[in-house]
Amino acid sequence: MVKVITYGTYDLLHYGHIKLLERAKALGDYLIVGVTADDFDKTRGKINVQQSLMERIEAVRATGLADKIIVEEYEGQKIDDIRRYGVDIFTVGSDWVGKFDYLNDYCKVVYLPRTEGISSSEIRAEKRKIRLGLVGENPLLLKHLNESVFVNGVEVTAVYSENAEILKEVNEKIENCKSFESLLGKCDAVYLVSVPRQHEKQIRKAIDAGKHVLVESPIATNPEIVRELFELARQHQVILMESIKTAYATAYDRLLLLIKSGKIGQVVSIDSVCTSLREKAPTLEERNHVWSGFEAWMPTALLPIYQLLGTTDCTEQFVSSFYDQQQHYDRFTQMNLIYPNAVATARVGMGVKAEGQLVISGTKGYVYVPAPWWKTDYFEVRFENQTDNKRYFYQLEGEGIRYEIAAFIRAINSVVNVSSIEEDVSIKIADAFDKYRRGDGLVKIG
Ligand code: CTP
Repeated sequence: MVKVITYGTYDLLHYGHIKLLERAKALGDYLIVGVTADDFDKTRGKINVQQSLMERIEAVRATGLADKIIVEEYEGQKIDDIRRYGVDIFTVGSDWVGKFDYLNDYCKVVYLPRTEGISSSEIRAEKRKIRLGLVGENPLLLKHLNESVFVNGVEVTAVYSENAEILKEVNEKIENCKSFESLLGKCDAVYLVSVPRQHEKQIRKAIDAGKHVLVESPIATNPEIVRELFELARQHQVILMESIKTAYATAYDRLLLLIKSGKIGQVVSIDSVCTSLREKAPTLEERNHVWSGFEAWMPTALLPIYQLLGTTDCTEQFVSSFYDQQQHYDRFTQMNLIYPNAVATARVGMGVKAEGQLVISGTKGYVYVPAPWWKTDYFEVRFENQTDNKRYFYQLEGEGIRYEIAAFIRAINSVVNVSSIEEDVSIKIADAFDKYRRGDGLVKIG
């Protein structure tokens, strides 16, 4: 029996794929098809794949041409597969000529002519692009602008910002709008990175105008309002999604799954630190547009705490140890969270530098994510017996921002909210802001 193997992404399965599979099958008696896993595609720079791994596998299965379907997850796997399954022929389309000659040491390599005039990329590009408008004064706006070019199906068409420094960096192809309202007329979706107190008003206007919203955390500074805004988005059938880029990093996602599966036992403590320096403290005037330490970092610091320990049964204490009374501006704040069976601290600062690590301690071991943990591509699981320790690495492109934009666009296209941040977590983040603002359990020093 002649065994043939071929690999591909098979996104939005098309005629070219089917032709390829037919010819691959005709080379032998048994066809194995390797479908690339989402993570592996990301590593190869394909982040805009529209269908999930399961959908792509199902599409290949439905052709009836594959005798076996496997998932391709890591570099070098082809050699492993060829040996494991006793493969005689490896084949792919002619777009790969020469790339897989190294496999000649293991089996015969055949490049089949590629079908002209069709590809997944072209099908993706033909779909009408979502026009995205960027709003706000925070330099994060530019990061989103730069990262959006890596995502198929989206195009930044307009910007509304009162920060002249930001506008200088925006090229002339993108419309510089004079007001938020005029921006809404020029886009299908908005990314808001304005200061938190402006969010509610802007989100309501955007949703009322039928626009989808990606908003830098917190969505608003009051939990009831966040609840209401989610409801409003549902009524208008638009997507409202909270933006915390870390939530979209593969390593962070794997870390959560690993802990939820009990790897370190019961979680009893989480310590999360996020800080950054600022060139100079903001003036009173600038304060209207500048994020304080709490505003800039607390959502990120709280994310693993709420996602692992939950959003109920928690009491909070805050200590701002470096507080500018005159400007109402916090530079370093520690938040203590007390759960019935666990404790956590979130320490955040702007204009203060600390070791930005994340430590999650459990009854069997702990997870250590080195600084800066919010841009995580690596973490370790450590145990009493050091030989049991394990290290995990995952690719992270563009600090997670491009994955977040891709998730937002996917959500818009499928009208299903596929946010990595659960609604109750968004509401609880707003609750922390609300309590802090009201001074509930708050000590201010400095
Ligand atoms: N293929 C083909 N003819 C095409 C498109 C793809 O023969 N018109 C082959 C590829 O050479 C590969 C397999 O189908 O062996 C799976 O390709 P994949 O990369 O999944 O599809 P593309 O359409 O090339 O995707 P993209 O545009 O994202 O690169």
